[in-house]
Amino acid sequence: MSDVLELVDVSVVRDGRALVDDVSWSVKEGERWVILGPNGAGKTTLLNLASSYLFPSTGTATILGEQLGGVGTDVFELRPRIGMAGVAMADKLPKRQTVLQTVLTAAYGMTATWHENYEAVDEERARAFLDRLGMTEYLDRRFGTLSEGERKRTLIARAMMTDPELLLLDEPAAGLDLGGREDLVRRLGRLARDPFAPSMIMVTHHVEEIAPGFTHVLMIRQGKILAAGPMETELSSRNLSLCFGLPLIVEHTGDRYTAHGLPLS
Ligand SMILES: Nc1ncnc2c1ncn2[C@@H]1O[C@H](COP(=O)(O)OP(=O)(O)O)[C@@H](O)[C@H]1O
Ligand SMILES: [Mg+2]
Repeated sequence: MSDVLELVDVSVVRDGRALVDDVSWSVKEGERWVILGPNGAGKTTLLNLASSYLFPSTGTATILGEQLGGVGTDVFELRPRIGMAGVAMADKLPKRQTVLQTVLTAAYGMTATWHENYEAVDEERARAFLDRLGMTEYLDRRFGTLSEGERKRTLIARAMMTDPELLLLDEPAAGLDLGGREDLVRRLGRLARDPFAPSMIMVTHHVEEIAPGFTHVLMIRQGKILAAGPMETELSSRNLSLCFGLPLIVEHTGDRYTAHGLPLS
């Protein structure tokens, strides 16, 4: 299987500090990765590298076979091959646009709709993705009026619109209530288990948000990788405790995970 993402000795340095510190990591086609780590660990920075919007200070990053900054690599050709859903994106999208328009504009790589004539086939695709995310009833609602959960589901549908080979999700369940989270986990699980769905990388703080079908986990702390590999072996109490800096117990029940601290003694 070919590499979807390959980082070799990658550091991202800002103001003399390594936000990502000498990271080597590879994601193969079809894998579904979860990135876990505390606030400020460098998770979003890793996703920004994977989305080609950020270049390494040192080391090499190769995405879908194209090396960032390499001869012959055109990031403008690469970017439509990567779907990204994160809060930074939500802020850039016009609030007055409808949900359907918000998803449709992704097909044209822009954040506004004016002067565009969309093909019927694009609209059909947009409707289908929104339907998969449970957003059919909201097609004509303005993006700015959506709840947190509805907005996140719209962004995921939008990220799917270019038929990406790599799908990046930055804390898709953050801010959702329990029902919203469970609904999203179920939908992401369906996507993760779909053999025709893109390779996926999802950032989260909570093991409860890991949908069944995710295959690998990377743990990062202070820009350094603590563990990276298959979920069954790497998502251990030991690794999670090291990652978050306190004693934690991970439990695996059915096809879901939970984590909690040790009782006071
Ligand atoms: N452009 C930047 N310049 C300087 N520091 C930054 C920049 N972007 C992020 N950081 C810092 O880098 C660290 C990692 O950020 P980030 O990747 O967003 O963490 P996470 O997503 O894991 O919470 C944080 O301490 C953050 O404040
Ligand atoms: Mg982040």
